[in-house]
Amino acid sequence: MENRQILFAKTPVGAVKPSDFEFRDAALPAPGGGDVLIRNIYLSCDPYMRSRMDPSSGYGTYFDLGKVLPARVVGQVHESRNPDFKTGDFVWGFLGWELYTLVSGGKGLRIIDPNLGPISHAITVLGMPGRTAEVGIYDLSNPQPGETVYVSAACGAVGQVVGQLAKMKGCRAVGSAGSEAKVAHLIDNLGYDAAFNYKTVPSIAAALDENCPDGIDIYFDNVGGETLAAVLERINDGARIPVCGQISQYDLESRQNPVDQSALLENANATLEKFSIYKHMDAFDAFPPRMSAWMKDGKIVYYEDIVEGLDNAPDAFIKMMAGENLGKRLVRVGDDPTL
Ligand SMILES: NC(=O)c1ccc[n+]([C@@H]2O[C@H](COP(=O)([O-])OP(=O)(O)OC[C@H]3O[C@@H](n4cnc5c(N)ncnc54)[C@H](OP(=O)(O)O)[C@@H]3O)[C@@H](O)[C@H]2O)c1
Repeated sequence: MENRQILFAKTPVGAVKPSDFEFRDAALPAPGGGDVLIRNIYLSCDPYMRSRMDPSSGYGTYFDLGKVLPARVVGQVHESRNPDFKTGDFVWGFLGWELYTLVSGGKGLRIIDPNLGPISHAITVLGMPGRTAEVGIYDLSNPQPGETVYVSAACGAVGQVVGQLAKMKGCRAVGSAGSEAKVAHLIDNLGYDAAFNYKTVPSIAAALDENCPDGIDIYFDNVGGETLAAVLERINDGARIPVCGQISQYDLESRQNPVDQSALLENANATLEKFSIYKHMDAFDAFPPRMSAWMKDGKIVYYEDIVEGLDNAPDAFIKMMAGENLGKRLVRVGDDPTL
């Protein structure tokens, strides 16, 4: 049996390209004492990975050229020499884009409780993207009934949860996304009250005037750029802006700060807070059971967009960055025996 791996080969210039990755076949590693060999099943494609491919992004920690691309992965223990993990256990961890990963000492591996939901959920709605949504909208923004919450990239891994959490607090949820199919999905399946296609509206400013006639109380920013600039002109007194991400800027050589935010924020007595989920991991363990209960009660639904096959991972990532995904993008690289 052989391993197959995807290496981070080149620092991208502009949008990530297939030539920024390389494939390698390798012998299956043999676990030593304490080690665990994982057969990978689901690999995550996340926008932050673009920033970690480029030391000029200011992200802080970066991927090593020539090494297997690191990512969150759900897998199954294939061979264990560690008493905490037995063959067949489902686990998730920060592993890599490859068919098998050897985890030295089992470090960072977490056992998945399949009673909470499908195993893939451990790295989607019950994991990092779901908790990111909760931190931004609940922990940082304190949404109140009747408030208008606007979410950009509203169909995605994080955005689809934000709108539903806002609705659970009695808010009016407005979303934007980049296709007509996504706009319909926001209204028909995710419970958003209003939605628009930011690519086809005459201007984002006009679309916000039409869809948020009472102004914006909370803006969950996933995209930055001109969307953030238009929002700042329309915030209500006491508005909160959790800045989750700024994907419109990730492929640019120099990221832009389109407006002088301080005057606009001060005038409206508003707060803008850039946050990272990594600063909120202390409270993480209580999150999967909480989100799982909301899902079992029918309060939250979640969509994953799964591409088949390791060899398609670079393309799946590139197209996620360009907006092809309808839901959280994963790549299935091995059989999921729970299906
Ligand atoms: N703060 C944190 O700790 C944290 C954690 C997770 C994610 N994030 C951030 O949250 C944001 C969403 O991440 P996600 O994982 O949920 O990804 P996602 O929304 O599932 O996928 C990315 C989406 O971004 C949209 N997009 C791409 N280019 C765009 C542009 N120029 N303008 C507007 N939208 C654009 C595309 O959808 P459209 O079809 O709508 O264009 C694409 O589907 C990203 O900025 C990410 O970096 C931050």
